[in-house]
Amino acid sequence: MAEPYYLTTAIHYPNGRPHIGHAYETIAADVMARFQRLRGREVRFQTGTDEHGLKMAQKARELGKTPRQLADEMSGYFRELFDVLNISYDRFIRTTDADHHRASQAIWKAMEEKGDLYLDRYEGWYSVRDEAYYDEKELIEVEGDEKLSPQGTPVEWTEEETWFFRLSKYAEPLLELLNTPGFLEPASRRNEMVAFVERGLQDLSVSRTSFDWGVKVPGSDGHVMYVWVDALTNYITGVGYPDGGEMWEKFWPADLHLIGKDIVRFHTIYWPAFLISADLPLPKKVFGHGFLLNRGVKESKSLGNVTDPMELAERFGVDALRYFLLAEVTFGQDGSYSAEALVNKVNAELANSFGNLAQRTLSMISKNMDGKLESFESNAADDKLALTVATACGTELPREFEKLNFSVGIEAWLRAVYACNAYVDEQAPWALKKTDPERMKAVLQTLYIAIRDLAIAIQPVVPEKAGAVLDQLGVSAESRNYADLADAGWFAALVAAGHTIEKPTPVFPRLELPSEEPA
Ligand code: MF3
Repeated sequence: MAEPYYLTTAIHYPNGRPHIGHAYETIAADVMARFQRLRGREVRFQTGTDEHGLKMAQKARELGKTPRQLADEMSGYFRELFDVLNISYDRFIRTTDADHHRASQAIWKAMEEKGDLYLDRYEGWYSVRDEAYYDEKELIEVEGDEKLSPQGTPVEWTEEETWFFRLSKYAEPLLELLNTPGFLEPASRRNEMVAFVERGLQDLSVSRTSFDWGVKVPGSDGHVMYVWVDALTNYITGVGYPDGGEMWEKFWPADLHLIGKDIVRFHTIYWPAFLISADLPLPKKVFGHGFLLNRGVKESKSLGNVTDPMELAERFGVDALRYFLLAEVTFGQDGSYSAEALVNKVNAELANSFGNLAQRTLSMISKNMDGKLESFESNAADDKLALTVATACGTELPREFEKLNFSVGIEAWLRAVYACNAYVDEQAPWALKKTDPERMKAVLQTLYIAIRDLAIAIQPVVPEKAGAVLDQLGVSAESRNYADLADAGWFAALVAAGHTIEKPTPVFPRLELPSEEPA
């Protein structure tokens, strides 16, 4: 039976249009989702928009809209972007969905029944941009006596009656959780969280009374939930909480919450504490990825360097963008991107290396062998190449993807592509055509088999392009899983079926940079 795998991205504030960071996180999650499916697991993949809170309410007011109008409009852009990016989500959740309100109220009641909620007065600092409360000690002082949050965002003094959650009660289980190998990755993010708990946990304000754009606190007029309480709950709403049932049994606890490094505290401290309080199982892994910088600089409206990911995808192609982001950046660390870096990398690695390999090989098979596959005798060089490719595709790439080391897995794959190109140069099949046609056939078909393995392995990253190569090779849609890499009989079956290869068209055309762009 297929082992279930549930992964989520953060849900995004639809207070503006999506930016490259949203695309980055969601693409990475999609690569993982596709990878696990190709490994034979039954995957559920959730993403969506986080629509309540003061930030949304303020932005809407600024634009003369209702929060609901703003959420509807912007959430639509996120969804559209994810569809263009070929994101294979199973649910796009909106926190304004009715089932989500029900789930949020249910977890609230469970925490209340535990005796973990009490009414009091909150007096302290709040950052609307982060939707986060900060302790005085955490703030950074800048010029004069202005204070900023540790993320560098403005904070405002807030006083109101709110419900509190007894976070202080959970220090011990949280420390144990944070020290569980594999729970929080990369491991370098652990120390900061452990230090935060060890400094002493304050109870957390979990409702607001100064505005009403949120999930109503059950039985407490005038209170809406603190946006993070309802936001985090999205992860269980989407698998059937509080009703339970088949999906819940199958998919909770989640295998992976993929999030940005700036919201690790919410996911590894607040969220587990809420779950423990409500007697629910804890997610298996939280991975905090790094930020994407534009030529080394953080994108911001004031710098005018904000890139529209939709435009990048339209200009260079979705798979080029997906490949670049995953291959270029060490996952977990910050990375930098630019149009030139994308064009250079994609041209070198996809167009000139993998694309050219497939194009050359298939053209020669169609021209020099009438497109007919035949059984052949391999020699030592052929066997060596086959082993290199099989190891990269069947062992190294999957091992690294499983650990979310996407760039390392892609490097292993690319080394195998390079090995194929070196083999073509050494074996010079074009010269064998006259001198030793049998040997030419062996060389071309060794390559044919290698390309099939390479295309199967890279599908999570470039699903459309890898699919197009597999179509040209004649690999059937049911035989494209990782398990098929180990199938020794597929080639013989194609030969027996008299499979013919048509003259191919290039799958990875070279990308061009418009000339006005800096080189
Ligand atoms: N909207 C939050 C942000 O962008 C992330 C919420 S993730 C959640 O920072 F699942 F916790 F809701």
